Amino acid sequence: MSDVISYSTSGPVAILRIQNPPVNALSQAVRQGLSEAMDRAEADVEIKAVLIVGEGRAFIAGADITEFGKPPMEPNLPDLCTRIEASPLVVIASMHGVTLGGGLEVALGAHYRIAQPTARVGLPEVHLGLLPGAGGTQRLPRLTGAEKAIEAVTSGRQIKADEAREMGIIDKIEEGDPQEVGVAYAMDLISSGAPRRAISEMAAPSSIDWDATYDGVMKKGRGQISGGAGVRAVQAASELSFADGMAAERKLFTEMLASDQSKGMIHAFFNERAVSNLPELKGVAPRALQSIGVIGGGTMGAGIATAALLAQMEVVLIETGEAQAAAARGRIEGSLSGALKRGKISQSQHDALVTSALTVAVNYDSLSTVDLVIEAVFEDMAVKKEVFGKLDAVCKPGAILASNTSYLDVDEIAAATSRPADVIGLHFFSPAHIMKLLEVVVADKTAIDVVATGFELGKRLGKISVRAGVCDGFIGNRILAHYRTAADHMVLDGASPYQIDRALTDFGFAMGPFAVADLAGLDIGWMTRKRKAAGRHPDERVPTYIDKLCEEGHFGRKTGEGYYLYEAGSHASVPNPKIPVLIADEQAALEITPRDFSDEEIVTRYMCAMVNEAAKVVEEGIARRPADVDMVLLFGYGFPRFRGGPLKWADLQGLDKVLANIERFAQEDAWFWKPSALLEQLVTSGRSFDDLNRAQAK
Ligand code: 3HC
Ligand code: NAI
Repeated sequence: MSDVISYSTSGPVAILRIQNPPVNALSQAVRQGLSEAMDRAEADVEIKAVLIVGEGRAFIAGADITEFGKPPMEPNLPDLCTRIEASPLVVIASMHGVTLGGGLEVALGAHYRIAQPTARVGLPEVHLGLLPGAGGTQRLPRLTGAEKAIEAVTSGRQIKADEAREMGIIDKIEEGDPQEVGVAYAMDLISSGAPRRAISEMAAPSSIDWDATYDGVMKKGRGQISGGAGVRAVQAASELSFADGMAAERKLFTEMLASDQSKGMIHAFFNERAVSNLPELKGVAPRALQSIGVIGGGTMGAGIATAALLAQMEVVLIETGEAQAAAARGRIEGSLSGALKRGKISQSQHDALVTSALTVAVNYDSLSTVDLVIEAVFEDMAVKKEVFGKLDAVCKPGAILASNTSYLDVDEIAAATSRPADVIGLHFFSPAHIMKLLEVVVADKTAIDVVATGFELGKRLGKISVRAGVCDGFIGNRILAHYRTAADHMVLDGASPYQIDRALTDFGFAMGPFAVADLAGLDIGWMTRKRKAAGRHPDERVPTYIDKLCEEGHFGRKTGEGYYLYEAGSHASVPNPKIPVLIADEQAALEITPRDFSDEEIVTRYMCAMVNEAAKVVEEGIARRPADVDMVLLFGYGFPRFRGGPLKWADLQGLDKVLANIERFAQEDAWFWKPSALLEQLVTSGRSFDDLNRAQAK
């Protein structure tokens, strides 16, 4: 009958078993198969109940996301859920693994729900820029009330079985084979004469303060609109008949599906998975990866060690002296206590990590047995070369030697060893045990199994790993330097750092560039400017007003003063009154007459600078695909997920429009705004960055 739905019977129970690996997404074939199997069960006079169950690791993970954006195919999911609910037979869903989105909507179309104790349910559509579109916003609040339904719809979180039962979503929890416990439950229901129980016939949820709830959700979403649409859909469940509520939900769902935000988020969903699938790594076995060494226990080294410990790896950390070693241990123990408090690890796991899995030493000999070493010492080529020379001498043959450098040349570091094939860059982001991004920097001579091991490490640490080539700043920091410079230029020309920060947080960034600079430490940029001063192009515009603040010893948040003033012990900040004065002095010295900028112009210039440099990074092969750049910005730089990444944003704007802006800005500053050749080619040939992504995926 159907390839993806198997039909069998057990006495008076028809069993509809979904077999659509890997996660039983509700493809057209699944929807049609379920609908036909319902017809078949209803046509059989012996059948009294229908059990829907999933094969493999999940009941149903939701609608098939690959079908979004394609012409709709019958039967559609809302109709299927309504058709299941309208059955004269008693319908039961037996859930295991995850039951998400459209999967939960199918289960809510059933009359009874049984689940494994480990099952989780949820409506994660908000993470795709959507809301539930097959009755989830209409049926769920009839079981849970409006507030709990709104929380589920707007957070998209996975709800554990126990909580779902308390909320009224699950009727019974029973451990065992999902089909067996489902059939037994169906038999009980039949023998007790349990009635059909259609949620659509239950009372509508009571009213709440809809506008205040909507405003709260929109504020939390920082520009993302689908959460608010979810609130309005639940409001419709309360205020309209079930049928009209379904129509209202459908209208909102269709609007969200057509939005750029859902396109951005769906792009993120697929590419955060695709980014570490490198064709050249197929069939390449990674090297052993049981124990790791970390050199330097400062901000990054301590974070990397914590991440490795939390992933159950043994760590040997080397510092320069006893005091530094004690400080490093203190930092790591602090982070592990944080993980304990947040429930990430148990007390006994915490104690084992601190006492036996972590060794802190001052002697490199302790590294003789580790599988991989990550160097995180000062950002200074001479220091790094010395460290790599020592590592070369003590590490066992085949051990991987990695650097966490932010900008330095990994080829040059590799050349300081007798085994450049074993050297790689592993660029983490601060705080390293929390930030999801890992750039795997492949140097000229890096062996392919060393690359595979870099990706394997990323996987074990729960990171999104992206391949990067060697250049100043790799993918992320190179692009960051460029769009930061665009912001600096706007300041010189008259926009205030505070307007820029606000315009960009309104756009959806977690923080504006000047607040970020304060957080990272203004000394970093100051040192970089000094390092690059010698090789500077004569046309390069580099503001120096902020260096004056650094010369006075103010480095941003850590010293209490930067672009903003920070009160000790508080996250609150206010603009620093010294900054406008310093800017005005520099403008006067450069004979610049400041002008006004609209927020829109700020965003356009910032984004165009980002896109132009990102395109060059792809053009030069530093990033493998445009989507790789997008994932770097999303997971390392606070780029709003609902915009998909800079190159997805550019596609959605229209590349011709983006290029026209860059060419217009180039008339003022031809050196900074030189258009990317790749961008020009795409515009000429009428193609998009996504076309390049697709071509690479083939
Ligand atoms: N549609 C299509 N493909 C899906 C899918 C879906 N709903 N969910 C997962 N997949 C694919 C993934 O892309 C991945 O493919 P790949 O192997 O080619 O990369 C594969 O299934 C396995 O997924 P994961 O690697 O993510 O496996 P995990 O075990 O780590 O996670 C999961 C499983 C929790 C189900 C996770 O994949 C997930 O969160 N999926 C999305 C769930 C979701 O958003 N559902 C709502 C869809 S929208 C909807 O239902 C609209 C409705 O209201 C009308
Ligand atoms: P940090 O100054 O906090 O820590 C450096 C540590 O290395 C110090 O504790 C120092 O005692 C130790 N050290 C110096 N020389 C050593 C040696 N020869 N042997 C053993 N230990 C030694 O610096 P941070 O911020 O942790 O940076 C480290 C590296 O990570 C740099 O290359 C930096 O560019 C890079 N990085 C930094 C990021 C950040 O946000 N801070 C982000 C990503 C990379």
